[in-house]
Amino acid sequence: MCFGPIDVQYDYAAIKRDLTKEKIARRKPNLWRYIELLPLDDKKNIVDLQPGFTPLKKAGNLARELGLKVIYLKDDTVNPSYSFKDRPAAVAVSKAREFNLSAVGCASTGNLAGATAAHAAKAALPCYIFIPKDLEESKVLSSEVYGAQLVEVDGTYDDANRVANLMANKYKWGIVNINLRPYYTEGSKTLAYEISEQLGWSLPDRIIIPMGSGALLCSIHKGLGEINLLGWVKGKVKLCGSQPIGCAPIAKAYESGGDIIPVETPASLVRSLAIGDPASGAEALKYIRETGGFADAPDDKEVIEGQKLLARTEGIFAEPAGGVAIATLKRKAESGEIGNGETVVVLITGNGLKTPEVLYGQFRKKVRTRAVLEDVEKKLKLQD
Ligand SMILES: Cc1ncc(COP(=O)(O)O)c(C=O)c1O
Repeated sequence: MCFGPIDVQYDYAAIKRDLTKEKIARRKPNLWRYIELLPLDDKKNIVDLQPGFTPLKKAGNLARELGLKVIYLKDDTVNPSYSFKDRPAAVAVSKAREFNLSAVGCASTGNLAGATAAHAAKAALPCYIFIPKDLEESKVLSSEVYGAQLVEVDGTYDDANRVANLMANKYKWGIVNINLRPYYTEGSKTLAYEISEQLGWSLPDRIIIPMGSGALLCSIHKGLGEINLLGWVKGKVKLCGSQPIGCAPIAKAYESGGDIIPVETPASLVRSLAIGDPASGAEALKYIRETGGFADAPDDKEVIEGQKLLARTEGIFAEPAGGVAIATLKRKAESGEIGNGETVVVLITGNGLKTPEVLYGQFRKKVRTRAVLEDVEKKLKLQD
């Protein structure tokens, strides 16, 4: 069952005539400021948790540490359900309301679960979430809290995806990343608009993007193409994807120069990116190659170091997917593949508080003391 076209079409000539950067600038700071470029027929169907227009933060400390000049972090950890997935979920659940569907849901590695459940709660729609086994407990809780029915499938994300598809067909539910996928992918392209708008409608040289299914990278490619078409910016951005080495089908295909070979059993602590058979992988690979970007695959140790580096230098606590992107930034700065004069944007797509488990035992122990000044000084070794 598919509720709409394979790719959403817009009347760009009409948009170019009516929509200006000045008009956008006067609107509220969330992703609905780009409503003409989103696939809703009627604004009254918007399910509004006000996602998007997250900060683009200049990362001077991180840049200095890596010997680079201009790094920006697109901080999507501060979205309503604490990941970028609020963008695609917002558009897809709104579209489900427009289609008058009786229920929504998703197959998820964790973040889409929370985003879909939160939007379903706001839309007062029943919500069914299909997840693989062994997701982080805190992440599961952060979907359950919204009242969704979670279904833990005995298998991988691909198994969860398959069974969600069967349920969607039988019960006519709107599964946001399956039969509502054309609308879902539209939500994430707002990241491209925002980055450009926040840079004064200019473009960075590169964007580093964590990849699971590859859909996020493809959406950013589409968003950049559209603002070029509308004449708001001019130029190309190198799209660079990153996956954990334990589940890196897109990055491995990039390395080998061949096609994507699905990973049967993902083996990485980065559960949110553990998609063995990436639905948008081939398309993502094509855009990486066409734009002159790269794909990279750090290991789990580098991912943890990436999370810690980001937190220590810039005060942002990202989940492992953010660690993946930062690890790639570091690796490519060290190899010289990212030039010193480049402006690089790194997408920080999920909040570390959703997966605290991965960092347990990573830091020096807290000191224990009585509430006495001399004791504190002694424990901190501050005495002469
Ligand atoms: C935090 C985070 N970043 C990035 C991604 C990758 O998105 P995509 O599957 O669209 O490639 C995911 C996917 O679940 C995610 O949860």
